[in-house]
Amino acid sequence: MTLLDDAARVRANAHAPYSGFKVGAALRAGSGQVYVGCNVENVAYPEGTCAEAGAIAAMVAAGETEIAEMAVIADCPDPVTPCGGCRQKLAEFGHPNLPVTMATTRGARITMTLAELLPGAFGATHMKD
Ligand code: THU
Repeated sequence: MTLLDDAARVRANAHAPYSGFKVGAALRAGSGQVYVGCNVENVAYPEGTCAEAGAIAAMVAAGETEIAEMAVIADCPDPVTPCGGCRQKLAEFGHPNLPVTMATTRGARITMTLAELLPGAFGATHMKD
């Protein structure tokens, strides 16, 4: 089973009654372990969380801090791309060369690196004297 299969499978559990847009995400951590997440919306709209954030939270809760590979999938015309906030979250735990595969449930997919998705990322080096 591929990482994208894991993302597609967890997408079924997304709680998206407000947008109707279900998203699934799966990441392979440094250990090789796979962590998954889906979007979890809330009636207080800004309290909703993205699928990628859920997968990252599961990884960190399990004691890991390195993302080696990421996949995200939704039912849309073009491959779903992580929102700006999630790109920054990925940068916290992923190398600039981290491959992020973005897909549609209809079979389209594209893979880009994190550096391509978040050029000029703000990082810890900016906070050094
Ligand atoms: N969403 C994600 O979970 N991940 C993405 O990459 C894009 C957007 C969610 C947030 C919200 O629940 C819904 O999709 C519509 O924006």
